[in-house]
Amino acid sequence: MSNRTFTMIKPDATSKGYTGAILDQIIKSGFSIKALKWTKLTTEQAAEFYAIHKERPFYGELVEFMSSAPIIAAILEKDNAVSDFRKLIGATNPAQAEEGTIRKKFASSVGENAVHGSDSDENAIIEGDFFFSKLERF
Ligand code: RTP
Ligand code: MG
Repeated sequence: MSNRTFTMIKPDATSKGYTGAILDQIIKSGFSIKALKWTKLTTEQAAEFYAIHKERPFYGELVEFMSSAPIIAAILEKDNAVSDFRKLIGATNPAQAEEGTIRKKFASSVGENAVHGSDSDENAIIEGDFFFSKLERF
């Protein structure tokens, strides 16, 4: 079990001005920041990041959305990071997310759902490496 996960604050949330509130909730929930950047994905980069979903019907929409405005990318540390972070963000569809979760509070739909959280230790490493060099994590 790894103690790191990877997250993005997605374009819907950065555009609505929720970046500070979401980072605050993440930190108050016990995660510490190991790497952080404000950036904007090209469509090619978004397509590569979400390549695992390329056969899914929502892939085109997802790539377009994820490259539509800036995002925050971050590596987070906490015991049991991957699963605790998935609990903190809530269900993919905010309508089904538990009260108090980040998606319940800040997401508007299943597509525009405010945050990404890695789904496994292996993907947390792959996704963190996608955004950050060795010199950018502490
Ligand atoms: P994420 O990877 O972003 O943390 O989200 P997740 O694990 O909860 O959900 P996943 O199944 O991995 O889907 C990735 C993202 O694709 C968009 N999506 N849209 N329109 C739809 O039915 C639909 N389903 C998924 C969401 O932005 C979702 O977070
Ligand atoms: Mg996922």
